Amino acid sequence: MFQHLEPYAGDPILSLNDEFQKDPRADKVNLSIGIYFDDKGRIPVLQCVRDAEAQMLAEGGAKPYLPIEGSGPMRQAVQHLLFGAEHGAVKAGRIATLQTVGSSGGLRVGADFIRRWLPGSAMWMSDPSWDNHRAMFEGAGIAVHTYPYYDPATGGVRFDALREAIAGLPARSIVLLHACCHNPTGVDLSREQWRELVPLLRQRELLPYLDLAYQGYGDGIAEDAYAVRLLADSGVSFFVANSFSKSMSVYGERAGALSVVCADAAEAELVLGQLKATVRRNYSSPAIHAAGIVSRVLADPKLRAAWEADVAAMRERIQAMRKSLHATLSAKRPGRDFGYFLSQRGMFSYTGLSAAQVDRLREQFGVYLIRSGRICVAGLNTGNVERTASAMAAVID
Ligand code: LMR
Repeated sequence: MFQHLEPYAGDPILSLNDEFQKDPRADKVNLSIGIYFDDKGRIPVLQCVRDAEAQMLAEGGAKPYLPIEGSGPMRQAVQHLLFGAEHGAVKAGRIATLQTVGSSGGLRVGADFIRRWLPGSAMWMSDPSWDNHRAMFEGAGIAVHTYPYYDPATGGVRFDALREAIAGLPARSIVLLHACCHNPTGVDLSREQWRELVPLLRQRELLPYLDLAYQGYGDGIAEDAYAVRLLADSGVSFFVANSFSKSMSVYGERAGALSVVCADAAEAELVLGQLKATVRRNYSSPAIHAAGIVSRVLADPKLRAAWEADVAAMRERIQAMRKSLHATLSAKRPGRDFGYFLSQRGMFSYTGLSAAQVDRLREQFGVYLIRSGRICVAGLNTGNVERTASAMAAVID
């Protein structure tokens, strides 16, 4: 029955993380997957999450199916978090929000919806982007192309080329954009560049699709929603898939949402209905535990304040590791410019290391990163950063 199947080649990120777990070396370093580790190398369980779970346990509520679109309190909390409670689009009811199975679930539900209702639209993503963006959209039957983004020569964005590519796209093309903390490069559009891009998206009648997986890891929780709010202000219709995996350190809870900002409340109702139909045909409804955590942490002022402090501490620890890596590498390889470790935002840095150098780091030094040269800076800590920098210095030509 199944002999004709092609073997699965594995996922470039998840398979490498599995390989890391199996490596017996005690001094191995995991910079492969986008997960925040604390200074002791552990995935933290935030106190606000523990408190929310304690409340849920004490209440001892039943565990019915959630509605297809997810928990009402979570959906409302997500809108307030992303757009601001007072935003005109929220007040006008022109945003269709669903709780989804992580932001990946949201991305895919949105892609299925687009395939059905905007059948001629192709998707355009940055070069490079998160590998799974292509896989998910192609999996939904949507053609995927790239627009210029990262410039290895300057370590910045090829903004002129990006703008030119966007200006040439057919109306109703999907433009996938990282709202903050670009994955894999750590190179974001500046606010000025967003302000240039948004009118162009509107004028060309394009459909932006924002991925907001690292909210809070760039400049701050509200600051990292800048592009989301700018688009909502502009009157453009767009998608935004957001995740709590990283910001609440609840990876396996699969806590995320998909919001579609529409022209008016009637359109939002139609969109919500068809998104619900898509979910029902896929996984039926999302997870109640994830909703309980997220809605409590966001709505309870004490838990919310604790969460905001935790996110700030995680962001600052990553920045401290960026500084340490930069200082050690600069000392070991004087004359080379490692300034990009300081200017890149969020969990990731693009090191420019070749696949062969990445392989050597893994084989000889037990330092794991994906073959594009992306490192997850949150895998560094005071105990391994010098060793990692020395290993990098040894493989750089
Ligand atoms: C990553 O890019 O490492 C994370 O988003 C985890 C994943 O699912 O790939």
